[in-house]
Amino acid sequence: MNDIHILGIETSCDETAASVVKNGREILSNVVASQIESQKKFGGVVPEVASRLHVEQITLVIEEAMEQAGLQPEDLDAVAVTEGPGLVGALLIGVNAAKAFAFANGLPLIGVHHIAGHVYANRLDGGMEFPLVALIISGGHTELVYMERDGSFELIGETRDDAAGEAYDKVARVLGLPYPGGPHIDRLAHEADDAVEFPRARLEEGSYDFSFSGLKSAVINHVHNVRQKGQEVDTASVAAGFQESVIDVVVEKTVRAAKEKGVRQVIAAGGVSANKGLRAALGKALEKEGIRFSVPPLNLCTDNAAMIAAAGTSMYEADIRSDMALNGRPGMEL
Ligand code: KG4
Ligand code: ZN
Repeated sequence: MNDIHILGIETSCDETAASVVKNGREILSNVVASQIESQKKFGGVVPEVASRLHVEQITLVIEEAMEQAGLQPEDLDAVAVTEGPGLVGALLIGVNAAKAFAFANGLPLIGVHHIAGHVYANRLDGGMEFPLVALIISGGHTELVYMERDGSFELIGETRDDAAGEAYDKVARVLGLPYPGGPHIDRLAHEADDAVEFPRARLEEGSYDFSFSGLKSAVINHVHNVRQKGQEVDTASVAAGFQESVIDVVVEKTVRAAKEKGVRQVIAAGGVSANKGLRAALGKALEKEGIRFSVPPLNLCTDNAAMIAAAGTSMYEADIRSDMALNGRPGMEL
């Protein structure tokens, strides 16, 4: 069998990324130009700024990925690009770069769902065993997906309001921590001596959906009340209480879904799966059930293009192709 080499491109949010992956498993290059430094001063991602920075970076990032892989365009089998969901202006930069590259070099084009990318990051490290449940938890997503086999996705739960990472970032901002706030809250939670008690949003009996806006408001109210009394906010114990509430609910729902579906493996993906507390709690709960738990290394948890190339390879093998009418789809469904 011939090797399959796929160029992946990702620009859905604030990372401009390109990567070449061999056979859906082996990373030959993985270039990520992060906009975090530029977006920091705004305390979040500003869509206009994101698009402009993608335009500046995209060609360089693709060239760098090809050079590091030591390949010429004719060595490639296809170009895979994030089609959605994401910021429309940001997606369009990647999609148009991918179309131009594919057209100029006579290569097939494959539009990839960003979340499928996060899930297939696990192929690049450790592997995927079906059936599985994937927890996708990031700044834009909090979803539970059941995969009976390769390429089949069933959305079994999602957030009804904020994504978990969004709640992390907003709580961090109220606590005066830098953007993105997730890693800072994670660190403070570990340093805390005690935790402020915040509510858990479990929703209706049996539901796999999530809700984090109530928790976020509870934290904001707590902080305002303490400050109004002229007292100092104990940042670490607020961080610890917030994180405990998130982890409790996420672990409970994920483990319940895994048991109900009788899966062999649970995969975590997305920026928040870098959270140390979450990894430990989920790992422990799944170990008790005898279910394998996998979470890719940090650089593959956060947005990158290797994961898009990995998911694109699975689609390539299933003969799925896009055409030159491919467009960015901000609200794309899995
Ligand atoms: O997957 P990602 O890079 O981008 C998308 O949102 O698609 O995720 C970024 C999110 C941010 O909200 C960031 O605060 C959060 O992941 N994050 C964390 C941690 N590291 C990153 N949240 C909690 N704990 C962490 N250690
Ligand atoms: Zn992402």
